[in-house]
Amino acid sequence: MKQNIITIDGPAASGKGTLARRLADHLNYCYRDTGKIYRLIGLQAYQKGLTPEDNPDAVAKLAQDLAENFDLSMMDNPELKSDHIGQMASRSGAFPVVRSAILDLQRHLALHPPYGCGVVLDGRDCGTVICPDAPHKFFITADVKTRAKRRFEELKQADPSVDYDLILADMKQRDERDFARTTAPLRPADGAITIDTSAMDGDQAYQAVLDKL
Ligand code: C5P
Repeated sequence: MKQNIITIDGPAASGKGTLARRLADHLNYCYRDTGKIYRLIGLQAYQKGLTPEDNPDAVAKLAQDLAENFDLSMMDNPELKSDHIGQMASRSGAFPVVRSAILDLQRHLALHPPYGCGVVLDGRDCGTVICPDAPHKFFITADVKTRAKRRFEELKQADPSVDYDLILADMKQRDERDFARTTAPLRPADGAITIDTSAMDGDQAYQAVLDKL
């Protein structure tokens, strides 16, 4: 049976998360954020004082343990949201041993939704690696300065002292790692529809995806 899976990949702060959640609600699909799994690994590595570049095997062991003991409620941890843990996630996910340790878990989440009539899968390699046969694949992007500005506006709400230049530098660094890694680099999947949201607001981006379904 062909699964109802929509993959939404793209760089940080491209707006794909908001869009994917909205789409899942609209279609009565289950929303799955694969970035949270990498963030869980990044958080655990951070808590254990591991430097991913020095200890990829130890981080892979954490990833393996996570896959074996995974519980959806783990994804609700508010500590996962910080930019620092995003960086730890990206540094950990640069290693093939880490990525392969959680591949089956991610496929399982995509193929066995506990509710809804399908899954919207959000991440970096959902259409290229996790579910390359998904019937609908999207690559949502925007230029790096627009994405940094969006993240800046979001973070400013909680902390007025946030620095735009630091956010931009952080985003460029994460992009460089995500696009350049040798395993599962960030790129549009074969057959994916690319939508550049640089000149769009959230509603326009959402409509652009709906128009292509
Ligand atoms: O999407 P989010 O910012 O939460 O992802 C955090 C990091 O996890 C990304 O920068 C990326 O390096 C990694 N990631 C990945 N593959 C995915 C999802 C996230 O490599 N499918």
